Amino acid sequence: MDMLSDNETDVSRKASETSLSQSDLEQVLRINPCGVVVTDATVDDNPIIYANPAFEQLTGYQAAEVIGHNPRFLQGHQPQERIAVMRSTLRQAIAQEQTCLTLLENFRKDGSPYWVEVAIAPITDETGKVIRHVGIQSDVTDLVESKQQLQNLYDKTIVGCVKTLTDSLAMTCPIGQVLTHRLYQLLKVTLNHWPLKQSWELRCAVFLAYIGCPAINDQIMKKYASSEELTDEEFAEFRQHPAHAAKLLHHIPQFGNISQAILHQHDDYTIPQCSDDGPQVNGEQPPLALARILRILVDFDGLRRGEVPIAQALTLMEQADHSYDPQLLAAFRKMQPLLNNLSDEQLWVEKTIQVADALPGMIVIGDVMCNSRDVVLLAQGQKLTPVLIARLHRRCMQGDIPKKIHVKVKTLSRP
Ligand SMILES: Cc1cc2nc3c(=O)[nH]c(=O)nc-3n(C[C@H](O)[C@H](O)[C@H](O)COP(=O)(O)O)c2cc1C
Repeated sequence: MDMLSDNETDVSRKASETSLSQSDLEQVLRINPCGVVVTDATVDDNPIIYANPAFEQLTGYQAAEVIGHNPRFLQGHQPQERIAVMRSTLRQAIAQEQTCLTLLENFRKDGSPYWVEVAIAPITDETGKVIRHVGIQSDVTDLVESKQQLQNLYDKTIVGCVKTLTDSLAMTCPIGQVLTHRLYQLLKVTLNHWPLKQSWELRCAVFLAYIGCPAINDQIMKKYASSEELTDEEFAEFRQHPAHAAKLLHHIPQFGNISQAILHQHDDYTIPQCSDDGPQVNGEQPPLALARILRILVDFDGLRRGEVPIAQALTLMEQADHSYDPQLLAAFRKMQPLLNNLSDEQLWVEKTIQVADALPGMIVIGDVMCNSRDVVLLAQGQKLTPVLIARLHRRCMQGDIPKKIHVKVKTLSRP
């Protein structure tokens, strides 16, 4: 019989005292502030066999209600395409007996969403066979929501800054501002239908698409805006505006995609791989995807400025080989009824007003020239902003411009 020395007995007793008993483990799970579920990997569909009180509190489900069910019910009723990637990642990690740590949006019993960081890990028996899985959920809803709010604020701040910048384009290049305004009206329609992840980038790309125009000769801009045919030489100069814009923007951090999109706004559609996701361009190749959307908006607006009817404009674009991403164009065509509303002239009335009565949002009919006739102060189609109105007032008081201007005013209802 082996005799243990006093010292050895002591060590062995201490080891058994320090290892956790079943009841210790149960307490650890019971008081754990994270939601914990354990599933039975030896049974078909890996059902839950244990859920701790924190899980009950977090989800609103009682343990008895969830035992026997696979944890996927926590995914709620989200559209399958939205969660397909997440599900396959989890499925793969579980099948490969790996531990996976991931951020998930789960749903409580009352249907409300919450965000969790989940660690899912296999538990093995003494032979190494996986017999259980444990899932530990830490509630990170507050963190995720405040991050989303910050991101939202950040996006709005950038778009706001860019809009302010382009408003100042009105001073140096009134025609550029008219074109930008038209493009933005179109974008507002399209954004409702193309829920892009990076919509702030598209908004900025539209606001800044014509930012290079002050570098182009005024007469060329005027001809372009009124859809007059440009000579080859004029056309070549006009086509430089995206390059000027890209040069202006290239030093702004985060604007890489935007400046590339603007630079390539006239490019033909030649690389098909980025349209695989259809019109919901998911940001994998943002510069190209943005450039393609921009091209559709710019060219459609060009045709409309030339008074080509909407249906005909769309058909002409569809017939133009290799110019447009076909899937984006098809999605754009679906917006036709909304495009019709956009051009609804019945919602505008024309007026001649005193400069003193000018209001933001009114649109100028005919160029407002300085009395000296050498400077266009406001261009046909330009939308009045508070800064432009202040400028008009000042010029009017100095006697530089006529006291009355012709404007279009939007009415709330059809006459
Ligand atoms: C222990 C454990 C906990 C899990 N917890 C969650 C969870 O909180 N939320 C979730 O969406 N999926 C969770 N899953 C993943 C799903 O149960 C399922 O494995 C996943 O949806 C992929 O498989 P499926 O495509 O068959 O649904 C958990 C899985 C295990 C094994």
